Amino acid sequence: MDLGTFERLLGPEGQELLAEVAERAGIESDLALGTRLRRTHDNDLVAAAVTQNHLRGQAATKLGADAAHLYFTHDALEQATRSRVAAHRATRLAEAGATAVVDLGCGIGADLVAMARAGLRVRGIEQDPVRAAIARANLAALGLPGTVECADATAVTIDSEETAFVDPARRTGRGRVFGTDGLQPPWPWVVELLQGRAVAKVMPGLAHTDVPGGVEAEWVSDGGDLVECCLWGRAFARTRRRATLLPSGASLAHADEPPVIGAVGAWLYEPDDAVIRAGVVAELAGLLGGWLPDPHIAWVSADHGEVTPLARRFRVVDELPFREKQLKAALRARRIGTLTVKKRGVQVVPEELIKRLKLDGPNTATVVLTRVAGDGRAFLVEASATAR
Ligand SMILES: C[S@@+](CC[C@H](N)C(=O)[O-])C[C@H]1O[C@@H](n2cnc3c(N)ncnc32)[C@H](O)[C@@H]1O
Repeated sequence: MDLGTFERLLGPEGQELLAEVAERAGIESDLALGTRLRRTHDNDLVAAAVTQNHLRGQAATKLGADAAHLYFTHDALEQATRSRVAAHRATRLAEAGATAVVDLGCGIGADLVAMARAGLRVRGIEQDPVRAAIARANLAALGLPGTVECADATAVTIDSEETAFVDPARRTGRGRVFGTDGLQPPWPWVVELLQGRAVAKVMPGLAHTDVPGGVEAEWVSDGGDLVECCLWGRAFARTRRRATLLPSGASLAHADEPPVIGAVGAWLYEPDDAVIRAGVVAELAGLLGGWLPDPHIAWVSADHGEVTPLARRFRVVDELPFREKQLKAALRARRIGTLTVKKRGVQVVPEELIKRLKLDGPNTATVVLTRVAGDGRAFLVEASATAR
C-alpha cells in the first residue's frame, strides 16, 4: 500500500469501502467481494480495504478491541508491541515521572498509543512515510492526542523534557536479526541514548553481557511467552536485572545473593522464561522459601507449594530410576501409558524417549528429568494450579 492509497483509504470513499468489507467479509468470499467492489472502485483502494480488514482480524490477539479501529501493514503489525506489554511500559514510565515521550521509530504506533493512554505527551518519529501516516491515523482513530513526524530518528533533536523511547527494527532486507548488530536504529546509538532519560525495547535473547553499564534490563513475558527485554536507561534503572510477568504484573529483581542449594523436596517449581532469562532463579527460590537442587539448572524446590505467577509448580510424588530400562519398568509398574517429560540439563529428546518407552497403561503422568550435582535424576510429579 502506497501513501496515496492509504490517504484515500482514510477519506470518505475509503471509509465506506472499509465498512462494507468488514460487513460482508465471511458472507461473500474475498474473490467475489473484491470483484464486485472493483466494478465501482479503484483496484488499489479495494485491495487496501480488503487487506486492512484481514490485518484487523489478525491484530486482535495482539491489540485487543483497539484492533478493529486501527490501520496496519503486514510487517509493521508483526513488529508492533502487544498492548498489554506496551501498557505496562507506559505505566512504569508515567510512574517514574516521565511526562513527554519521543518514540524514535514508532512504526504503526502500538507503543505510542499506550503511552498516550497513560497520559504522556507523545511525539512519534518514523522514517517510513506510510507507517508514519498510519501511526498518526491510529492515534486519531482512538481519539488520542499526539504528533507523528516522518524523519530519521537519529537526526532528531530530543527536547529537554522528553524521554526517548526506541524499539529498533529487528528485521533487515536479509531477514530477522537475533544479535544487536543488525538493529535499526543501530545499537551503538541506542546504547548512547540509554546513558540518559531513555528506554529501549530489544530482543529477549539479549546477552547479560550486552546490557550497558548502569542500565536495568527487564525481561517481560506475557501469558507465559517471553516477548522482550526492556532496557531502562540510567535515569530509570532501579536494579541490574528483573523479570516481569504479565498479566499479573509480578516482578522479581536481581539481588545478587548466592543461591541456596539443597536436595529435591516436596515441590518443584519451573520458573517462567522471563525469570530464567533475567537470571533471578535464586531470588525466586528465596521468595518461595526454597532452594536450587543444582546451582546451574533452573528448578526451584521447596517444602511448601505456593501458588505464584512466577513459576509452574509440581508436587513431587516419587523419585524414579534415571536409567532408561529401569525407568520403563517403574512406569509400567504404575500402569502409565501417557507420559509428559520435562527435562532440564540432560541430553534427552522427550518425544524420542517416550517413543522408546512404548508405554501402554491407562494412567497419565509427568516425569521431570534433570541433573543434580552432575548426576541424572528422575522425579514423578503432579502439575498443580498456576497463577497468571
Ligand atoms: C520494531 S518497529 C517499532 C514498533 C512500535 N514500537 C510498535 O509497537 O508499533 C521499528 C520501527 O523503527 C523504524 N526505524 C528504523 N530506523 C529508523 C530511523 N533511523 N529513523 C526512524 N525510524 C526508524 C522502522 O521503520 C520501524 O517502523
